[in-house]
Formats: sequence, structure tokens, C-alpha cells
Amino acid sequence: MSEWDVSSMPDLSGKTVVVTGANSGIGLEATRAFARKGAHVVMACRDVGRGESAKATVREDAPAASLTVRELDLADLDSVRTFAEAVADEERALHVLCNNAGVMAIPRRETADGFDRQFGVNHLGHFALTGLLLPTLRETPGETRVVTQSSGVHERGRIDFDDLHGESSYDEWDAYAQSKLANVLFAYELDRRLDATGADVRSVACHPGWAATNLQQRGPEMAGSRLRLWLMEVANRVFAQSAADGALPLLYAATAPAVEGGDYVGPGGLLNMRGLPEKQRSNDRSYDGSVGRRLWAVSEAETGVAYSLPDPA
Ligand SMILES: NC(=O)c1ccc[n+]([C@@H]2O[C@H](COP(=O)([O-])OP(=O)(O)OC[C@H]3O[C@@H](n4cnc5c(N)ncnc54)[C@H](OP(=O)(O)O)[C@@H]3O)[C@@H](O)[C@H]2O)c1
Repeated sequence: MSEWDVSSMPDLSGKTVVVTGANSGIGLEATRAFARKGAHVVMACRDVGRGESAKATVREDAPAASLTVRELDLADLDSVRTFAEAVADEERALHVLCNNAGVMAIPRRETADGFDRQFGVNHLGHFALTGLLLPTLRETPGETRVVTQSSGVHERGRIDFDDLHGESSYDEWDAYAQSKLANVLFAYELDRRLDATGADVRSVACHPGWAATNLQQRGPEMAGSRLRLWLMEVANRVFAQSAADGALPLLYAATAPAVEGGDYVGPGGLLNMRGLPEKQRSNDRSYDGSVGRRLWAVSEAETGVAYSLPDPA
């Protein structure tokens, strides 16, 4: 059983970390932990007002925290480009990119670019963001990392290349599972490509187990289902760990020296839903390089973001 917790994190003075979805839940708790260890944290938030409120709560715990709130709407590729340009221009370095923001099991909605919102926000937005920030990650001296937040739900996921955006048929949980499997496939494919070029960037996937956050409320709220909302609230009270504990796998993936590119990190306790972080194995489909390559090609075509990383195959 792992004994790694926030007290095990190294000093992060002089390091710059980007956290997507930094205003809420796991992203907020990760921001707090990074800031307490001395990192400069770029809080990438869909709504700057919510980002500034979150920043104020972090400052209550860590008055010296170095925090910048920047607008990032992963459901809009123009916003992703604007954000990435600002980070590349105004931050001197980027040591860790945390692809954490997400939505879960929401009714079908489209992003500004016409993607299914779950696939668009959870996968394609982060795929584009990572590609646009990769030059900055590679130019930063020393080892840098990309950490992509998945979910245990990826295990029931399948990539439906014939209907990626749920236009023919849509199930909100299948769409979430597909997007979370895409997160792991992307993390591993990125690592294979980085490895082949000898870049000093590690790509790692993680999942938080089950943590009580706003994530569980969004789907029922959007569907207008008070029963589902109530069930989610009860389930959270019974099963979930805190958002701070849910942030531990991401923090471990981002900072532990033992982490290697291509690792998958999650909580090691009951049913991998809670507990301290450890390396785990994701489902067999996530290690299928042919699916990873195909998803990569589709993601480049759909986002228009081409990585300058050759296909190792
Ligand atoms: N909590 C769990 O039990 C659990 C389990 C498995 C995986 N995860 C994963 O953990 C990650 C964090 O979720 P959480 O539990 O911390 O949920 P949360 O409290 O709802 O936080 C989600 C964050 O993502 C942001 N976000 C949503 N849509 C966005 C968009 N279009 N552009 C930019 N940011 C956007 C939200 O911003 P707003 O506040 O503006 O909506 C919020 O900051 C997600 O990837 C989720 O899939 C969570």
C-alpha cells in the first residue's frame, strides 16, 4: 500500500504548472497543493470570475501563492488557441501541464466547433491544448510532464470511430466512458511519440477514484432531473472521498520522481475508488497502439492542431 501524500511532494519553487478546471473540485485542490509547495500556478478556468474566487480561497491558505487566472474554454478551439498563445508568450517556462477539466454524463450538447461536448471538452480540447503548449514544454530546461485526468469509467469505454460525436445514437455514460478512454489512449500515444524523439517530456495518465465535487451534479442539473441529483448527492455522501484526496493521483503523477512516461496512477484503496496513489494498470483496450494512432490522426484532423512528433510506428 502506497504511503505517498501531499507531504511527500517535492519543493516546486521556480516551477510553472498549468491546471485546467482549476476553479473547482480536484483542480482547485491540486492548485492549492502545487501553490503551497511554491509552484507558480496558471489557473485555466472557463469563467474568470469563478477562477478569481477560487484564487482567493487558495490565498487564504497560502498568502504567498503565485497564481494567475486565465480564461480557457475547452469547448471552443479559438479559446484554446488564445489561452495557449498567452501562456507561450507570457510564462517563461512550463514544467507541468495538468489536463484535468471535464464534464460527466451530460445530455448531448455541442461545442462551438460542433463536437459532442463530452468528447470535445474532455479529449479534443485537451488534445489541442497539449499540442499547442508542447513547444513550450520542450523548450523548458529539465524534465517536464503532461498529466491527463481520466476516470475508472474508461474501463467500459469504446472508441466509436463511426460515430465519435454521438450523432447517430447517444448515451450520456457511453459518451463519458469514450472520452475518458480517449484520455488514456492519448496519454500513452503522446508518451510513445515523445519517447521516439528523445524529448524530456513524460506523459502520464491518472484517475481520482470517486471524489465529491461538482462533477456529479452537472449532468442531472442539465437534464433537469431532481431524482438523479438527489441520488448523486446521497451516493457522494456514502462513497466519495474528499476532493483533496481525489487530487492525490494527479499530484503524484505530476511530481513523484518514481513516475515514468506511460504510467497510469490511481488511488490504491477500496475498489480503487479511494486511498493513497499508486501505479495501476488501465484496461487492455487503452494499450492498443493501433487505436491510439488512429485516435491521434482523427484528433489532429478534427482540431487542426498538428503535433511535430512523428508516428513511431
Ligand atoms: N470527482 C470524481 O469522482 C471523478 C471521478 C473520475 C474522474 N474525474 C475527473 O476529474 C476531473 C475533474 O473533475 P472534478 O471532479 O473536479 O469536477 P468539477 O468540480 O465539476 O470540476 C470540473 C472542472 O472542469 C471545468 N470545465 C468544465 N467544462 C469546461 C470547459 N468547457 N472549459 C474549461 N473548463 C471546463 C469546470 O469549470 P466550471 O466550474 O466553470 O464548470 C471545473 O473547473 C474531470 O476530468 C473528471 O472527469 C472525477
